[in-house]
Amino acid sequence: MTNFERKEFYGRRKGRPITKTQQNLYDNFLPEITVNIDDLALNKDRETWVEIGFGRGEHLAWQAENNRQVNFIGAEPFINGIAALLSKISDHKLTNIRIFPDDARLLLKALPDASINKLFILFPDPWSKKRHHKRRIISKETLVHFARILQPGGELRIASDAPDYVEWIIDLLSDCKVFTRIEEHGIESPKTRYEQKGLKAGRKGIYLKYIKDDNF
Ligand SMILES: C[S@@+](CC[C@H](N)C(=O)[O-])C[C@H]1O[C@@H](n2cnc3c(N)ncnc32)[C@H](O)[C@@H]1O
Repeated sequence: MTNFERKEFYGRRKGRPITKTQQNLYDNFLPEITVNIDDLALNKDRETWVEIGFGRGEHLAWQAENNRQVNFIGAEPFINGIAALLSKISDHKLTNIRIFPDDARLLLKALPDASINKLFILFPDPWSKKRHHKRRIISKETLVHFARILQPGGELRIASDAPDYVEWIIDLLSDCKVFTRIEEHGIESPKTRYEQKGLKAGRKGIYLKYIKDDNF
């Protein structure tokens, strides 16, 4: 089994100061909905969908609002992103989201086999330089966990506007022989902040959808 260590995380944890209201939510509400990886307490009567690197939470909040019967876990170490999602949870009175405010790879390691139904990774950092490929959140090592934690028939949804990274991901998924690719042209939710920025800069989102095969 692959082990991930916290020191391997690459990315920023903090940006501009968050608002007073967000700080209050961060200090007082986040602890209430934080996932404890030593005691995940998954509700087996409901589906669990996970989003890795939810950014400011546009997609996660939209999914939670439109799928109230599903439990969600979002993993994101960027404090400003977490604060933005907390505001959305509070504004829309969402009761089906829990947050893992740290490196998603620690959550991946803790999730039991076949415990989740959908996994979303939207616009992960592409780390384009070859010497930085080891920083990618979709990698040979994390794929072992995606395959393990998804139920047979479960969905892996990925979006990226970096064509080279997409090719790399497609090859990786094809080599691991656990997933079948389904044709996909977009996701129903509104575009995330990162996607919108990319579109303005002339970059187009590419969407991938995979189903975990039944025989694994
Ligand atoms: C390019 S942004 C995209 C954010 C969002 N999905 C969107 O589309 O707007 C990538 C996000 O992945 C997060 N990220 C990077 N490494 C991560 C990790 N190991 N675990 C969880 N999130 C991670 C970053 O903090 C960042 O918010």
